[in-house]
Amino acid sequence: MNLDIEFVRAQFPGLESPWVLFDNAGGSVPAGAVIDRVTRYMRSRGVQLGASYSLSSAAEADVRAGEAAAALLLGASTQETIVSHSTTAGLGILAAGIGPTLTEGDEIVVTNLDHAANIGCWLRMAAHHGLVVREWKIRPDTARLETDDLAALLGPKTRLVAFTQCANVVGELIDVRRVADVIRDNRKDTIVVADGVAYAPHRHVDVEAMGVDVYATSLYKVYGPHLSAIYGRASLLREAQGQNHWFIADDRIPYKMQPGNVTHELTAGLTGITDYLDAVAAHHDIRQPATRARHAAVFERFAAQEATLCARMLEGLLSHDAVSVVGPHDPSPAIRVPTIAFTVKDRHASEIPPLFDAHHIGLRYGDFYAPGAIDALGLAERGGVVRASLVHYNTLDEVDRFLSVLREVL
Ligand SMILES: Cc1ncc(COP(=O)(O)O)c(C=O)c1O
Repeated sequence: MNLDIEFVRAQFPGLESPWVLFDNAGGSVPAGAVIDRVTRYMRSRGVQLGASYSLSSAAEADVRAGEAAAALLLGASTQETIVSHSTTAGLGILAAGIGPTLTEGDEIVVTNLDHAANIGCWLRMAAHHGLVVREWKIRPDTARLETDDLAALLGPKTRLVAFTQCANVVGELIDVRRVADVIRDNRKDTIVVADGVAYAPHRHVDVEAMGVDVYATSLYKVYGPHLSAIYGRASLLREAQGQNHWFIADDRIPYKMQPGNVTHELTAGLTGITDYLDAVAAHHDIRQPATRARHAAVFERFAAQEATLCARMLEGLLSHDAVSVVGPHDPSPAIRVPTIAFTVKDRHASEIPPLFDAHHIGLRYGDFYAPGAIDALGLAERGGVVRASLVHYNTLDEVDRFLSVLREVL
């Protein structure tokens, strides 16, 4: 059975609006189950955790269940899952903790493709601890990171490599396992950091299979509340310098990396993401007994639906004389997700979204906080790119509406 799109859309109160939402790489709308969990927590649990009275225990159980849901989504243990308010904040905290474990003169690698969240914190860490920074650059003709180029940057002193699993501007996927293997062939203890923020809304994440030490997701793009979940390998977290109160022991992971604790009501809401995946599984008669296997099967349906949308979008954009698609033209789910960047001949990118606003189609333009990629592609002066970013709850009708407006306004 294909994804039942009517059922899916009925799970998202935010989709009842007249808007066609093609800005999902910015943030998805939350599932109704998430809203219900947050509301329930705030209405009936709003007390502090850790006391002996039963209401406090019930609140604690809801928060711990939310943390477990985040860990489940990553394929990690709760000890290895740092819940934070954003990826930028979570990686920043982690970088502050990892820095003191490195030695002056050690080398790190960042890319010019990544969102700033997976660059800036490592550059700050390097500046504080006297580390040498190398840059893994995209090839300007393809906007791709090539592993041969990375291999040439690695050496005996490489201690950390940070890169993205999916380009948030152009939607192209990177084989994280392959990159991790190249990194470990050079030096076994290099810390492998992958940014999965633009990937996790589209595919089932498995941090063990990818062989990463750090992995970032922003759950407000995965149908959840405005939080992030950052995986950190247990041995790495234990060794890192704690960023919480000074008396929190080094083995209290992930707590030592969650200063001030998690946001209770939103963390409780994370269970709503897995409620949603379970509801889709039940509706589609997906019956694997293991929860992760069930969720993987649900994400396979999401990917199939997205591939159909992506193919129709690309076909329409590529056939328009004034439009140039930036990034892969192949809609195959092995290559990309339906985050589609384009430019329009003789137009500044800022001119395009307002043409669609009037038709209740939500798009966005800019550099998407990946200024290095936009610079390398020579698009900074044109305002970057226009980005239409779809997820599984979008429909072919919406794509057709977008394409017909495109033909009308350009
Ligand atoms: C690929 C990627 N990484 C990181 C981030 C930063 O996420 P956050 O807003 O949770 O800090 C974003 C945000 O758009 C992103 O697209």
